[in-house]
Amino acid sequence: MASDLLSGKKGIIFGALNEKSIAWKVAEKAHEQGAEFVLTNTPVSLRFGELDKLGEKTNSPVIPADATNIDDIRNLFDQTLKHFDGKIDFILHSIGMSPNVRKKNNYDNLNYDFLMKTLDISAISFHKILQVARKKDAINEWGSVVALSYIAAQRTLYGYNDMADAKAMLESIARSFGYIYGRDRKIRINTISQSPTRTTAGSGVRGIDGLMDFTERMSPLGNADAEECADFTITLFSDLTRKVTMQNIYHDGGFSSMGMSYRAMQMYKRSLDCDDCPDPEDIED
Ligand SMILES: NC(=O)c1ccc[n+]([C@@H]2O[C@H](COP(=O)([O-])OP(=O)(O)OC[C@H]3O[C@@H](n4cnc5c(N)ncnc54)[C@H](O)[C@@H]3O)[C@@H](O)[C@H]2O)c1
Repeated sequence: MASDLLSGKKGIIFGALNEKSIAWKVAEKAHEQGAEFVLTNTPVSLRFGELDKLGEKTNSPVIPADATNIDDIRNLFDQTLKHFDGKIDFILHSIGMSPNVRKKNNYDNLNYDFLMKTLDISAISFHKILQVARKKDAINEWGSVVALSYIAAQRTLYGYNDMADAKAMLESIARSFGYIYGRDRKIRINTISQSPTRTTAGSGVRGIDGLMDFTERMSPLGNADAEECADFTITLFSDLTRKVTMQNIYHDGGFSSMGMSYRAMQMYKRSLDCDDCPDPEDIED
C-alpha cells in the first residue's frame, strides 16, 4: 500500500534481526511510505548478514551499534546525521533481551548480573538513545520516537520473567523523557504495547503457543501481528499524530480491556472436563 505518509522523513530503526522482526516490517512499511532511514543492530547480529538484504531492499545504510554502549550510539548518530546531511524525524526502539529468560532462571531465582543486563538492553538503552539524541540535537521539531512494549508492564503473565520489570521501566522512560523532549523540542515519545507475536524474541517467551491461543481467544479483534504493528507504528511517525505523546498505546486487538471472553470460557470449560490435564500445583511459575 504505497503512499507518502512519511515522505521527506528520515529516521533510525533499531532491532531488525530477520524478516520476522517487528522492526523489519516497520522498515519495509516506512520505505513504502517514502521515508529514508538508517538500520542498526548489534555487531554480532549483523554477522548473520540478513540486515544487509533489508538495507539493499530499502536503500538504507546499515550501521552497527550495541544499544547499551554510549560510544556506539554516539557514533551511530554522528554517521546518521552526516549521511542525511541534517537531522532525523523518527526513531524506532525495537530491542529486547533477557539472559535470565534465555537461561531459564525463574523469577524467584534471578541472576542479578543478568537482571542488570536485561534492564540495560531492554529499557536503559532507550534512555541512552534519547539522551544522546538530545545532546546532539539530532531530531527535528515534531519528530516522533516509538519503543515496543508488552502488557506484562501492567499485568503479571506467566513466564515473562524479568522482562516485565524492563517493560515497566521502558514505559516510564517514555513518560519522563517525553515531558522533557516535548517541552523543549516538541518531540513526542510513545510506547506501543503489542500482542504476543511470533518473532525470535517472542519465541523465547515460555509457553508462547498457549499464550497466543489465549490472547487470540480473549481479544475481540484477535491478536495483532507484526505487520499490523508496523502499520500502527507508521501512523505514530506520521504528522497525523503530532499531539500524541507520553502514552503507552495498546495494539492488542482489545485484549487489555477484557476480563473473560466467551471463546476463552469455552476452552476453560473444556479443560475442566479434561482427565489428563496437569495438576495446577505441579506447574512451575
Ligand atoms: N514478539 C512479541 O511477542 C513482542 C510483544 C510485545 C513487544 N515486543 C517487543 O518488540 C521488540 C522487538 O522484538 P521482536 O519481537 O521483533 O523480536 P526480535 O528478536 O526480532 O528483535 C529483538 C531485537 O533486539 C536486538 N538487540 C538485542 N540486544 C541488543 C543490543 N544490546 N543492542 C541493540 N539491539 C539489540 C536483537 O538483535 C533483535 O534485533 C522488543 O522490544 C520486544 O520486547 C515483542
